[in-house]
Amino acid sequence: MLNIKLKLFFILLFFVYNVVSESSFIPKDQRAEIFKLTDNKVAVFRVTIPENEFASLKRKANFVTAYDINAKNDVIKKTVNLINSQNLEEIFPGNDFKKLLPDLPMNKDGYPTIDYTKYLLSDSKFEYIMTEYYVSFIVFKTFNDDSYLNLINVLYVLSGLEMSPDATVDENFLFIMNIFGKDKVTKDEEDGKYYLLDKDEDEDYYEFPFEYEYYDEYYGEEDYGDDNANLEKRRRRVRRQNIKRRGLGRREYEDYNADDFKKLLESYDFSKYDNPAEEEIDEFDFKTKNGTMEVEVNNKKSNFKKITFSLGGHFSRNFAKPAYNIKIRGGKELYGRRQFKLRSDPADPTYLRSKLVSDIHNRLGVPSISANYATLYINDEYMGLFVLTDAYKETWIEYVYGEKDTKLLYKCNISDLTYETRNGFKNENNEITDRKELYEFLAAMTTAQTPSEIEHIFDVDQFVTEIALEYLTSAWDHFMNQHNYYIYKNYKNNKWIYLAYDFDLDLGLNTYETDVTTTQSFDELSYPSLVEKLILNDFDKFNNTIKEIVTNAFNPGVLFPHIDELKAFIKPYVELDKTPDENGKSPGRINLNDDILFSMDQWDESSEFTDINSTISGLKLFILLKYRYICKEYGIQCDPKYLSDDYKTTTAATATKTTTVVPEPTEDVEPTITTTTKTTTTTTTTKTTTKTTTTTTTTTTKTTTTTTTTPEPTKTPEFKCMAEVIGYPCCTSKQTKVYRTDEYGDWSFNFLKLQWCGLTKYEPKTENDEDVCWARKLGYPCCEKCPLLTLYKDSNGSWGLEHLRWCGIIESQCSKN
Ligand SMILES: *[C@@H]1O[C@H](CO)[C@@H](O)[C@H](O)[C@H]1NC(C)=O
Ligand SMILES: *[C@@H]1O[C@H](CO)[C@@H](O)[C@H](O)[C@H]1NC(C)=O
Ligand SMILES: *[C@@H]1O[C@H](CO)[C@@H](O)[C@H](O)[C@H]1NC(C)=O
Ligand SMILES: *[C@@H]1O[C@H](CO)[C@@H](O)[C@H](O)[C@H]1NC(C)=O
Ligand SMILES: *[C@@H]1O[C@H](CO)[C@@H](O)[C@H](O)[C@H]1NC(C)=O
Repeated sequence: MLNIKLKLFFILLFFVYNVVSESSFIPKDQRAEIFKLTDNKVAVFRVTIPENEFASLKRKANFVTAYDINAKNDVIKKTVNLINSQNLEEIFPGNDFKKLLPDLPMNKDGYPTIDYTKYLLSDSKFEYIMTEYYVSFIVFKTFNDDSYLNLINVLYVLSGLEMSPDATVDENFLFIMNIFGKDKVTKDEEDGKYYLLDKDEDEDYYEFPFEYEYYDEYYGEEDYGDDNANLEKRRRRVRRQNIKRRGLGRREYEDYNADDFKKLLESYDFSKYDNPAEEEIDEFDFKTKNGTMEVEVNNKKSNFKKITFSLGGHFSRNFAKPAYNIKIRGGKELYGRRQFKLRSDPADPTYLRSKLVSDIHNRLGVPSISANYATLYINDEYMGLFVLTDAYKETWIEYVYGEKDTKLLYKCNISDLTYETRNGFKNENNEITDRKELYEFLAAMTTAQTPSEIEHIFDVDQFVTEIALEYLTSAWDHFMNQHNYYIYKNYKNNKWIYLAYDFDLDLGLNTYETDVTTTQSFDELSYPSLVEKLILNDFDKFNNTIKEIVTNAFNPGVLFPHIDELKAFIKPYVELDKTPDENGKSPGRINLNDDILFSMDQWDESSEFTDINSTISGLKLFILLKYRYICKEYGIQCDPKYLSDDYKTTTAATATKTTTVVPEPTEDVEPTITTTTKTTTTTTTTKTTTKTTTTTTTTTTKTTTTTTTTPEPTKTPEFKCMAEVIGYPCCTSKQTKVYRTDEYGDWSFNFLKLQWCGLTKYEPKTENDEDVCWARKLGYPCCEKCPLLTLYKDSNGSWGLEHLRWCGIIESQCSKN
């Protein structure tokens, strides 16, 4: 009998493997193998690069944007102008400034004429100075420089003079004299240099004048209440802003016609053309080809002798933990892909947005990158948790469309797919200079007035789906913002296709307050003219596409269980990603210019129904509110459970508690079959139940009858902890932190071995449990849940499979199914 079972087991393993490898969220899984294999186990990337290059990487990660420099320069300029606007002879009467401050330029009337441009920061100077956090210290360092005029010396001297009681003195000027004057500054008599006294203990430094003005000018002051009474007011403001933006963003093309374009394109000399959007390798870019890599996927290691490793991301470069790009060279691949991004998604407190929006694309079968999770080590230094994605590159096109070395894959920097914005594209292949096909395409897109005019050159259906997704996820940084997408001309049907990426700011990040963002009608948004042509001209199609997406993917019934599952899956890794080392730095935070770190509680709450602030929506809250609005506006029959106003409070509290993911069995679950268990993952039964049952009540009905002892000592192993029942080790005395709780009690996680361990002591159950679990006598557990399939029946009873072990089915409990 055991032989038959074993045979069945092999067949079944194959079956389980196939089922499991297709994630339940993505039914017809067309993702690359690497993403299927990482659904239940986080991949481990170990990159090795020369030590000196690692040091250089760390230095270059300390990137600052021109924007930051401009903001600091603005403070410097305003501070110098403030000093220039003071009449020193009136404020400090009776002094001979020519003697006191011979270097200070002054006009006849007694006003200084200092040239602020001498103090402005440049990229290189800024890199040195930015180790200072507070603007006042940056200003101090900048002014304390003898190359033109030492302004600290000026303020030091002035602060020692007596002020006229009649003079009206600017408050900010007094402040600056105070913090850079004799009270706070000391002059070293030996070297003649100025130093700040106890700067770190003095709160006066922290609010330097002018510091926030630039930001207000840049972003506009936002002054409105949070209460609901203000909702209409806020909505109107947003609407006004959008209409203004739209007016500016749209161009008129009436003056072009197809013949003009034809002539124009004929006269181009494309051979001379430079790739205009070619990215310059600047001082802060890091890239090395001297890398090797070992990747562990599902307990299996793959080694690569040649990789290119670089700092990635643009926006994310402003944050503490940078992202990375990896390219595998030498004709090798990692389960179906060669180029990867390890995204740090620092603005997303949940680490879920990139993954979720990729999954939605994959679930709908829309051409797209995919996502899962990975941890990264560089030269054995742990860099934290990352979102692993593939990237639209020539190799991706080859895998997905079968075309080798495409010449027609363009990355968009800024373009609305019109001829006017043709310079916003960069060919992925730097050697391609001929842009004729691109320009012809853009010219045709510009002159066309209706969808039917461009259907033969552009995949309109796919574009409409993408715009519908952008609308549903309130994504503002793709086509709607003329940014973050690729276009590729599919050589098979000669149609260009729109491919979106960078989903980390979708689903309510950096937008408006959640209630405003989720209730914007499509018409209220600012959108490029192409959207008007292709969508407003055929709104029924858009309407139907919205319905289809909402029914199949964008709804809480589908997304919430998936979010719960993902949260349980990544939680221990997120925790480790936030754990500081002995120097107080969390892993991978190598850009010292930023120290925003969302707490574990913020991670948890903001993936549920809590907004962190007006620009960071609670993930589930965003989905719920958007769903409700869309259901109403698009007349969709939606799940009443989520439409009810009671929903939010009841589910929010229980959602995280009820969901648990069964840990992945390790290789030593069943000693007899170790060779085949490598590829296996969680059992299918748990996944299907999370999908169909959503409330707390179901979990309590399942009793722990499976773990009773048996009088036959030879067959029943002795368990020290509950985890051992399903093949997991017990935790050592040092591991005490609970990361998860399920029917096997509390679990901790061993980060060195990347393995779960059990904390709850094994308690033998009472005798009469044995009457229920008939299989226990035979040395097997009973099935915790009623399996979908009865795999085998013999005279003892019916057998199912759970956690890759045989289990006896308790007919009395499962007969109803
Ligand atoms: C993208 O466009 C912006 C704005 O026009 C420009 O400043 C930037 O240099 C461009 N980047 C690339 C890589 O072309
Ligand atoms: C990296 O590789 C380049 C080119 O092969 C070589 O010139 C350079 O010296 C290498 N750097 C290190 C640190 O090994
Ligand atoms: C919201 O919180 C983030 C992270 O702490 C912060 O960077 C951002 O400035 C905040 N936004 C607002 C509007 O308060
Ligand atoms: C979408 O179509 C439905 C009819 O199927 C209609 O009731 C609804 O108003 C439409 N929505 C929009 C925003 O046009
Ligand atoms: C089940 O019953 C059969 C006899 O019908 C017996 O041979 C077998 O050993 C029993 N136990 C197991 C574990 O199959």
